[in-house]
Amino acid sequence: MKTTKIAILGFGTVGSGVYTVLQQNSELIRHRQLLDLSVKRVLVRDLLHGRNLALAPMETFTTDYADILADGEISIVVECIGGVNPAKDYILRALQAGKTVVTANKEVLSKHWPDLERAAKETGAGLYFEASVGGGIPIIRALNDSMQANNISRVMGIINGTTNYILTKMTNEGRAYEEVLKEAQALGYAEADPSADVDGWDCVYKLSILASIAFHARVNIENIYREGISKVSAEDIAAAKELGYTIKLLAIGKKQDEKLLEVRVHPTMLPNSHPLSSVSGPFNAIFLTGNAVDDIMLYGRGAGMLPTASAVVSDVIVAAKTAKGAHPYMTFNNEFDAPQWLKNQKDWTSSYFLRMEVDDELGVLSKIAGVFAEYGVSVHSLMQKNENKANGSAELIFITDTARELSVQNALCALRALPCVREIKSVMRVEE
Ligand code: HSE
Repeated sequence: MKTTKIAILGFGTVGSGVYTVLQQNSELIRHRQLLDLSVKRVLVRDLLHGRNLALAPMETFTTDYADILADGEISIVVECIGGVNPAKDYILRALQAGKTVVTANKEVLSKHWPDLERAAKETGAGLYFEASVGGGIPIIRALNDSMQANNISRVMGIINGTTNYILTKMTNEGRAYEEVLKEAQALGYAEADPSADVDGWDCVYKLSILASIAFHARVNIENIYREGISKVSAEDIAAAKELGYTIKLLAIGKKQDEKLLEVRVHPTMLPNSHPLSSVSGPFNAIFLTGNAVDDIMLYGRGAGMLPTASAVVSDVIVAAKTAKGAHPYMTFNNEFDAPQWLKNQKDWTSSYFLRMEVDDELGVLSKIAGVFAEYGVSVHSLMQKNENKANGSAELIFITDTARELSVQNALCALRALPCVREIKSVMRVEE
C-alpha cells in the first residue's frame, strides 16, 4: 500500500475539516484507493491559543513553514489559509520544492493562476483546486474531465451561499436587504465585513476560475463585470414575484462563436420555471450548457467544514495517485489574458426589468413607449401599480424583449430626461 504524507496549512474551519475527513474515512480510502493518507504536519499561527488543537497530536503542529518545506517525506501541501497573503508565498514555495499543492483558495488562484501554474510545471508538481468553486460540488473535475467531449457555450451559477441566503430570506419574508443582512451577520451566515460576498467579489473570483476552464481561455478578474446585491430592494423582489420571476445573484459566462466571451456577475431575474430559481438558502448550483450534453445542473453545499473538505480530500486522493510529472495542467488557448476575446459590454444582449416612478397623467405611457421605440427596445410586458394619489405618481414595471445593452442604456438616458419620469428605480437583466 502506498503511504502519502501530507501537510495542512491553517487549521480553521476548512483545515480541521480536511483533517477530520481524512481521519473518519481513512479505512474507506485505504480499501477503495489503496492509499494510506497520513497528516504529518499542520501549520498554525499560535501553538497555545489556536482553534481545534485538540483534534491532532501536539507534535503534528508547527508554526514554522520551513519544517514542512524541508521535510522530504511530505509530498502534498494542503493550503487552507485563504486570502492572498501569505497563502500565495506558501503555495509558490511548496511548488518550487516539488510538492503538490491542493488549495480551496479561489482568491489566490484567480489572481495569480499563471504564476502558480508556471511554478508547478517547472518542478512537475500538481496544483489542484476542486474546492475553490462551489465548496463540496464536484464542478472543477466535471469541467476538466467529464465534460471534455463538449464545446461549452454557457456557465451560469449561484456560487455564493451568503448572498443566496440573503436573497432567499428577502423573497420568502418580504423583508429589506439591510435588515436581513444584519440578521445573517448575527447568526454567523454573513461575515462581519460582508463586502467580499455582497459586493460580488467572491463570485468574480469563482467565475474567473469556472469560465477559464469552461472556455479554455484565461479570464482575468479585471475583465468580469460586477454588481452586488445591496441595491436589490423588497419592492424589486415583490414585483419579480408578481411577474413569475425570482431574483438571484448569478455568475454568468457565455461564449459566442469560438472566441467571443461575456463574463458578468449581477443580480438577475430568472423565470420561476428555471432550475436555478429554486436553489434556496445557502445552497449553490452551477448550470452548464455543452453542445453534446445539452444542459446540466450541479447542486450542493457551496461552503462549510465537511462539504469543502470533501472536495479538498478528493483532490488529495487524485494527487496521491498521480505520479510526479504526470499531473494535469490547464490548456488555455491564451495563457495570459486576451481582452480582444471579450465581447464589448455595449453588444451584450439581454431582456431587462425596469421599474420607474412616473407622473400619473394622461399620455405618460405613450411618451415612454415612444422612447423605447426610438431606441429599438421592444416591450415584452408592462405592469402599472402603486398609484400614489397623494403625490400624483404611479409605478411602471417593464420587461423588455431581448435588446442590445447599448440600446437599453441609451433609452434609459432619454427616459431620465423626460419630465414625466420621476425616477428610474431599478434596472436588472433577465435570463431565460
Ligand atoms: N463566502 C462564500 C459563500 C463561501 O458565501 O458562499 C466560501 O467560498
